[in-house]
This record gives sequence, C-alpha cells and structure tokens, in this order.
Amino acid sequence: MLPDQFKKTGTSPGTDSALYGMILDNIDRAVVAFDQKGQITLFNPAAEALMERSSRQMIGQHYQALFKNQKTLLYLVKVALEEGRSITDDEGLYLHRSNAEPLPVNAYAAPIYTSKSSQDGVVMIIRDLSRIKELEGTLRRADRLSMLGTLAAGLAHEIKNPLGGIKGAAQLLAMELTEESSLQDYTRIMIKEVERINFIIEELMDLGNPRPPEIGEVELIKILGDIVLLQREAARGQSIKFHLKLDPSIPPIQGDESLLTRLFLNLIKNAREAITHGGEVLIETRISSTYHMTNPGRRSSPMVDISISDNGCGINPEEMERIFTPYFTTKNKGSGLGLAISQKIIEDHHGLLKIASTPDEGTTMTVSLPLHR
Ligand SMILES: Nc1ncnc2c1ncn2[C@@H]1O[C@H](COP(=O)(O)OP(=O)(O)OP(=O)(O)O)[C@@H](O)[C@H]1O
Ligand SMILES: [Mg+2]
Repeated sequence: MLPDQFKKTGTSPGTDSALYGMILDNIDRAVVAFDQKGQITLFNPAAEALMERSSRQMIGQHYQALFKNQKTLLYLVKVALEEGRSITDDEGLYLHRSNAEPLPVNAYAAPIYTSKSSQDGVVMIIRDLSRIKELEGTLRRADRLSMLGTLAAGLAHEIKNPLGGIKGAAQLLAMELTEESSLQDYTRIMIKEVERINFIIEELMDLGNPRPPEIGEVELIKILGDIVLLQREAARGQSIKFHLKLDPSIPPIQGDESLLTRLFLNLIKNAREAITHGGEVLIETRISSTYHMTNPGRRSSPMVDISISDNGCGINPEEMERIFTPYFTTKNKGSGLGLAISQKIIEDHHGLLKIASTPDEGTTMTVSLPLHR
C-alpha cells in the first residue's frame, strides 16, 4: 500500500496506486520516502535488500536513524526537506551497513509536491553501483592487458627465431659429443632452458593473439573435480586440504573446456601456492541470484559463480592492481602470466572476476560466467 503522499488525486486513484505500488515493488533501485517531519513513509523491497532492513522495521523511523553517521546521505535528505530542491551525489559515495561491506552507490533526493503545490516530504532513490564498479575494473584490466599483450606478442615472435637457432646448435653440439662426455650435461641444460623460454613465449603469444574459444557444453563438476585431483597430488605432504562444494543441479555451461580448465587450474594453483604452512582451499559453485549479463545486444542470462577461497597469505592492497599485469609475480618460480591469461579467458566467456583478499587471512576469487551464450 502506498503512503498518502504517493496517491494521485483525481482519476481512479485505486488503480493508479496499485500500479505505482507494483512498480515500486519491482524496481531495482532503493526508493525511500520521508514525510515533512523526516519520518520514513515508504521503504521498497530494493531498499530492504540494499540496506538489509525490513520495511516493517523502518516505517516511522526518522531519516537520521536510517543514515546515522552517513554525512552525505543525511545532507541530501536535509537539503530536499528544508530547501525544497532536488539534489544528487554520484561521486565516491558509500552506503554503510552494520553487517556488510560498504556499498558504492549514487543517491538522489527530491521534494514531493502535492497537487496544491505544497511540499509533502522527500523521495530518495539509491542505486547500487557495485556491479558497475566491478565492470569498470574488468575493463580497465582488459585494456591494459590487450595493450601489453599486443606489444609483448610482437616481441615474443622476434625472440622465437633466434631461440630456435640456439636450440638447433645445442642439439648439433650434443650429437658431436660422445655419450660419456661431461659436457653433455651442459647441452642438456641448454636445450631444457631454451624449451622453457619457448614455453613462456608461447604463453605470451597466446595472450596477445589467443585462439578463439571453441564453444561446447562444459560440466563444471567434472573439470573442477579433475583439477583438484591433480592439485591434491601436487600438494602432497604440505597439509593443504581441498574442499569441493559443487551444486549438482547446475546444468552444463556453454564454454571452451580446455580454456576453462586452464582458468580454474591457474586460480586453484594460485590458492595452493598462497598457503605456506598448511591451510585450506575451498571451491564452490552456485547459481548467482543477482547477476545477469547485460552486454548490449545480448539476452541476459543467469550467471554461475565459481569461487576459489584460500586461507593463505592474501594480497596487499598495493599489489592488487598489479597482479593482472603480465609478468608480475611475487613467487620465485612464477611466470606472472597466470592471472593475465585467466582474465583473458574470463573476458572471452563474457564473464566477470571478483576478488576479495585480506593480507595474512586469505583470498577469494569469484568467477561469474553466464549459463547461456
Ligand atoms: N590466491 C592468491 N593469494 C595470494 N596471492 C595471489 C593469489 N593469486 C594471485 N596472487 C598474487 O598475484 C601474483 C600473480 O599471479 P599469477 O597467477 O598471474 O602469476 P604467478 O602465480 O606468480 O605465476 P604463474 O601463475 O605463472 O605460475 C602472484 O605472484 C601472487 O603474488
Ligand atoms: Mg599463478
């Protein structure tokens, strides 16, 4: 039921208010109305979800209680109430909630005028920007990656030829030497190391100019299960526990099996490597309730969230932006290409990557992939 402020006077008020009520119930923006005393008269379902309070609890409360200690939001309502003008804030505004992370939002407050042109309270609309911020992050990383990727792939191509020459010469040398010659050890090392450089370069060229994904049906349970089997083996004797919590009701997703295997292998390997003195890696899948793909021209699709959590070393805030840069690594034996490649694969699958990490506590990487293409 709508508060009196929202009922249109005149023509068929019953139908109008039912329609307005339905719109407010279904809109994805938080809509909160206050009367002239500043008390809440309307708190729609999106507001309940965003602020994690129920409408029953909030109706009748004062706006100062709702936005306690949140200077900007308090100011917006105050201006609309006392000065009777609309006001908006888009810049770096966060909604603070008691039991959850602060949420990036934008907010708009406007006076409500009755038919007699007198002011009867304020309506406020708050929009959750967290998904937009995530998308912006993904785009920023993708941009940098494609620039670096193209540059480096060109260079890689140039390096491959002389490298082939060195390998050939080392092989010839090995043939000249007798089996027992102590110099054989050196030629073996030369060939092995050249092959290692070659491998790194091929990875890099993939990054700059990857093959297009071959789309088929991919069973997440199967690929995640296989990866964990191998990672358990690799972590033998290190007291790392792997837990799988895979929702069996998730249908196969549309994707490239070998690329997705590579993606999850990279992430699960990173989780394992983040743990130095024993710990746990949890791999979870679930259908996401909120995320829909909104690429222009594409139909929206439900998303599957695959999260990989570890209680390892975590990532420093200063390093967070750099971890996607090709060759950035904090490991002795890392190539620093794992996440750059993973990011590319996620992008090719129209997905998203979300990272939550606390130094010394651990990291959760969540990949969201659309169920359909
Ligand atoms: N789960 C994690 N916990 C802590 N740090 C991480 C995690 N995942 C990635 N990192 C950090 O990001 C850096 C880059 O990761 P990336 O996978 O790209 O390269 P790498 O693991 O160092 O090398 P490679 O994957 O080629 O073996 C890592 O060196 C590490 O510092
Ligand atoms: Mg890695």
